[in-house]
Amino acid sequence: DKDVLILAIESSCDETAAAVVKNGRDVLSNIIYSQIELHKLYGGVVPEIASRKHIEKINPVITAALDEANVTLEDIDAIAVTYGPGLVGALLVGVAEAKAISYAANKPLVPVHHIEGHISANYIENKDLEPPFLCMVVSGGHTHLVLVKDYGQYEIVGRTHDDAAGEAFDKVARAIGLGYPGGPKVDKLAKEGNSDAITFPKAHIQGAPLDFSFSGVKSAVLNYLNECHMKNIEVNRADVAASFQKAIVDVIVEHTMKAAKEYHIKKVALAGGVASNSALRGAMEEACSRRNIQFYRPSPLLCTDNAAMIGAAGYYDYMNGKRAGLDLNAVPNLKI
Ligand code: KG4
Ligand code: ZN
Repeated sequence: DKDVLILAIESSCDETAAAVVKNGRDVLSNIIYSQIELHKLYGGVVPEIASRKHIEKINPVITAALDEANVTLEDIDAIAVTYGPGLVGALLVGVAEAKAISYAANKPLVPVHHIEGHISANYIENKDLEPPFLCMVVSGGHTHLVLVKDYGQYEIVGRTHDDAAGEAFDKVARAIGLGYPGGPKVDKLAKEGNSDAITFPKAHIQGAPLDFSFSGVKSAVLNYLNECHMKNIEVNRADVAASFQKAIVDVIVEHTMKAAKEYHIKKVALAGGVASNSALRGAMEEACSRRNIQFYRPSPLLCTDNAAMIGAAGYYDYMNGKRAGLDLNAVPNLKI
């Protein structure tokens, strides 16, 4: 059979990214322009600035992706693009660009869900991974426990009722003065701390055993910091980071194992920015090996936002006949 080449575009948040992916699994190029330095000044992503930077970077990033893969638009079979969820202005840049290329080069346009992309990052380095499997998606904006029934067929079996896991990491990082983005910094500092030093609550949702709530843990950390401040007790930031991280990681692993048992699944994957957290990777791996469950996770570069994952998801969508017309629009709150 002939190889299928997908040109993928991702611009849902603060990464301008393009990639060329062969047959959904082989990454020929993966170009990421990160805007993090720009947004750091403001302590978080500023949507208007993100949109403007995407406009500036999208063409050079796509050109670089084609060059590095050593292909031209002629060689490409389809254009895959993230159309939601995300920041509307940011998404629109990628969507408009993909439509323009699709029209000019006369190539099919494949609309991709951002979360489907995160999940599909697992296909890239694990050539043997096939559905069904369970995927715990933990990113800055999402916390979904997803049952991947088949390519392009998903069922959400657990979700957060308030903050996303990454959001909790970022807020706690800010509270202990680590700056933005906080997740990787908490991860690093936690290695020097004692995770049993402070007991933070592990919120469970009444009647929804696979769902999550992270705002309680975050508030407990803020209360603890306030109390220390009022009593003039010096805060051990490494202990706070380690104890907070443990509270989050324990619940994520516990619910994933519960779901694996309930749905009789022997394959578990992680996805999203928080999937690069070292404590989470370690704890999930251990829990899986104890139960004879095969464990998968993308390497850190494929955990955070990138276009290679959109190319992987886009390939299966393309093969399933999923297409968009030139009326494709960005959908900021797109459901999976
Ligand atoms: O998937 P992603 O790049 O963007 C979204 O789609 O949201 O995830 C970004 C999130 C941020 O909240 C960041 O702090 C978190 O992932 N993150 C981490 C780590 N690396 C990134 N959180 C905990 N530990 C890490 N090592
Ligand atoms: Zn993401």
